[in-house]
Amino acid sequence: MPQNIDSILQENRLFPPTTDFAKSATIDESKLQALYQQAEDDHEGFWASLARDELNWDKPFSTTLNSHNAPHYRWFEDGELNVSYNCIDRHLADKADKTAIIFEGEQGDTRHITYAELHRDTCRFANALKAQGVETGDRVVIYMPMVPEAVIAMQACARIGAIHSVVFGGFSAEALKNRIDDASAKVLITADGGHRGGKIVELKAAADKALENCGESLQKVIVLKRTQHDIPMKAGRDIWWSDAIADVNDKCTPVSVNAEHPLFLLYTSGSTGKPKGIQHSSAGYLLGTIMTMKWVFDHRPDDIFWCTADVGWITGHSYVAYGPLAVGGTIMIYEGAPTVPDTGRFWKLCEDHKITVFYTAPTAIRALMKSGDEVPNKYDLSSIRLLGTVGEPINPEAWMWYHEVIGKARCPIVDTWWQTETGANMISPIPGVTATKPGSCTRALPGMALDVVDDEGNSITTPDKGGLLVIRKPWPSMLRGIWGDDARYVETYWGMFDNRFYVAGDSARRDQDGYFWIMGRIDDVLNVSGHRLGTMEVESALVAHPAVVEAAVVGRPDEIKGETIFAYVVLKGERPADGIDDALTLELRNWVGEQIGAIAKPGNIRYADNLPKTRSGKIMRRLLRTIASGEEITSDTSTLENEAILLQLQGKE
Ligand code: WTA
Repeated sequence: MPQNIDSILQENRLFPPTTDFAKSATIDESKLQALYQQAEDDHEGFWASLARDELNWDKPFSTTLNSHNAPHYRWFEDGELNVSYNCIDRHLADKADKTAIIFEGEQGDTRHITYAELHRDTCRFANALKAQGVETGDRVVIYMPMVPEAVIAMQACARIGAIHSVVFGGFSAEALKNRIDDASAKVLITADGGHRGGKIVELKAAADKALENCGESLQKVIVLKRTQHDIPMKAGRDIWWSDAIADVNDKCTPVSVNAEHPLFLLYTSGSTGKPKGIQHSSAGYLLGTIMTMKWVFDHRPDDIFWCTADVGWITGHSYVAYGPLAVGGTIMIYEGAPTVPDTGRFWKLCEDHKITVFYTAPTAIRALMKSGDEVPNKYDLSSIRLLGTVGEPINPEAWMWYHEVIGKARCPIVDTWWQTETGANMISPIPGVTATKPGSCTRALPGMALDVVDDEGNSITTPDKGGLLVIRKPWPSMLRGIWGDDARYVETYWGMFDNRFYVAGDSARRDQDGYFWIMGRIDDVLNVSGHRLGTMEVESALVAHPAVVEAAVVGRPDEIKGETIFAYVVLKGERPADGIDDALTLELRNWVGEQIGAIAKPGNIRYADNLPKTRSGKIMRRLLRTIASGEEITSDTSTLENEAILLQLQGKE
């Protein structure tokens, strides 16, 4: 939720970990201080020793960090390993029968998968991929419901060194097509459908539509039977998952890849119309997820770890598919919506599966909070020992509810700041040590050189003064680039300060205790229900509609979603009377849904004859944001080329 700075500045409640939690936590104050000290004294040595201790290498590395071609950093570059081996095989000696995945479908069907079974299923599917022609380095797109096979598909790619690109199942055919083409993917893995909100998500139908105009690269589609409803299969192209694994071996030797070998691409929104394919490495990425499982989530062998994110987002990569498995944990996967059959579903799942660590987004907390305390109070939540949030700033009110009603004031809350690009948590409390403040993600983790700087790049030391959030030193789980667009990588993240440090795109401040408070994006990226969306992306979708000449999109503060999309649209024909045209609005919303996905549908559309522009033709977005939030315009508007348009935009004409 966009922060109301005045109320947050007054936020000074402090919640130290309970004595019980602190006593049993794996990291105490002195251990934490030692970690900070080691990282401070020898940044590379610190990461090198963790990489040696925490990862199983096929060939050990001798160089820790290569900065010669900065900002193209390379970590552990002459080492070799396999990520799937590190997530699965290495646990088989002592955890073969331990549950790796607990699954529950929206309709209540459940499965438990042990590490031995996960190993077998991953091997078989890896062999199936090979049989379909997938080789090391090939790109494989995964467009799946939230079922164990999504994780198995990711692990199988990692096992043979294929680069996966997971596309969130809520994205449209068009978005899927663009991602397949951008990565020149060879194989698509999908399902007949998924269960969500009591309905079937027609994944295969969307995939078929995407493939109608896809480029040449895509050769095969592997289809998991999940919903069992009738779907067409295209001969020669489509193969059922069950057939693909029918005649293959149960053993698949993991392929040793270079530490820097791309593990995956994940497309995320930026300031332009085209999402960028964020490229992650193998070793550095995995190390980041492992360390944060230990430091932030205080991982214990008997934990049942539930991160509610879909594997279509970075959170579902790092804290469902990779991190928790790499530490030999047990994860929960739930397929459906939090409101089916009612708003108690999450809490029922916590009770039924004895969840110990629960990690979700503020938007979900706010939505569930709305249904009242009596809903969670019906369930036994005593197994939970640690709570987490991610994706957007959490407003203190939601934080307090999470703390009191879900955590019963026993459980620390880790508010984790990070990004698709950072690969793993960067700023977060250490649960047994850090005293938390509602709404602050507190301090940077050891080895993560976060800072707040002014426009010249100078560190801001004045408490509560806002600036740009930057990262001063490279870190192992950092992105390695943007797929196929190196210039954009350098420009977006490093250009502002001549490659000296990474610019996160967020503004932030630090309080008198040095705690970080994230204030929001500085670029044209919106945060709708914790998901990143580019304003330009939505604008491009709108102007692609034949009726639209121009569109400007801004975020409007929303109690539950954080932000919703407010679009101002100039039509080719006449402006509708009073700026209202419900039929067209419905059509445009669906149109955007088809171009991008349902999460990108504008909540509001207002029609105008023109948009507010400066004399040089720049759209005044700040002004549009003010109007969208229903606030009065107090700034000087005389520099506008067309000041009169404001009345129309405000809906007053
Ligand atoms: C925002 C999600 C405040 C931020 C892991 C960031 C947050 C963007 C937090 C990345 C947090 C994420 N507090 N803001 N704890 N976590 N953000 O790439 O604006 O989907 O830049 O990664 O979400 O979103 P992304």
